[in-house]
Amino acid sequence: MEVDVKQDCIGVDWKTVSKTLKSVEMAHYEPDVHRKAFEASHTTAFVYHADRLIGFGRAISDGAYQATIYDCAVLPEFQGKGVGTIIMKNILPRISHCNVILYATPGKEGFYQTLGFLRMKTQAWRHKTYNACDT
Ligand SMILES: CC(C)(COP(=O)(O)OP(=O)(O)OC[C@H]1O[C@@H](n2cnc3c(N)ncnc32)[C@H](O)[C@@H]1OP(=O)(O)O)[C@@H](O)C(=O)NCCC(=O)NCCS
Repeated sequence: MEVDVKQDCIGVDWKTVSKTLKSVEMAHYEPDVHRKAFEASHTTAFVYHADRLIGFGRAISDGAYQATIYDCAVLPEFQGKGVGTIIMKNILPRISHCNVILYATPGKEGFYQTLGFLRMKTQAWRHKTYNACDT
């Protein structure tokens, strides 16, 4: 399958980003909220097939030694075709100087294992009041 990868947010249809995240049951917000999040991210990747946005991902980072991957998602009908790998392989070299972590959705661990991620021994904690999503 032929795809194009874009690394900037110019011209991104944020409605599609919101709808895609909803379709894969990930936290999703109004389109403009996603625009704000992606534009403020250190690294972004958007994959297009025939000019259609079919997947994306981003990393937030201090640009020095810490980075966290978020919102890696592929439209259901394009999953299992290597698009997620393209997204991650586009993001990772741009944060390769960092300690790279992510929060894997239960059931998706195998995907991240294929990319070289190892399960951490530390636990993720979230604040009982200051939380924007139910994950
Ligand atoms: C997870 C996701 C991004 C993977 O993208 P994808 O395009 O379907 O994955 P790929 O086709 O690039 O698969 C790459 C490898 O990971 C494996 N893989 C993919 N999903 C997997 C899963 N759920 N469990 C185990 N292995 C998986 C594939 O078998 C493939 O292995 P191979 O290279 O040995 O054949 C995509 O399925 C998705 O958007 N899922 C819903 C949203 C989601 O849960 N995102 C992750 C948030 S943490």
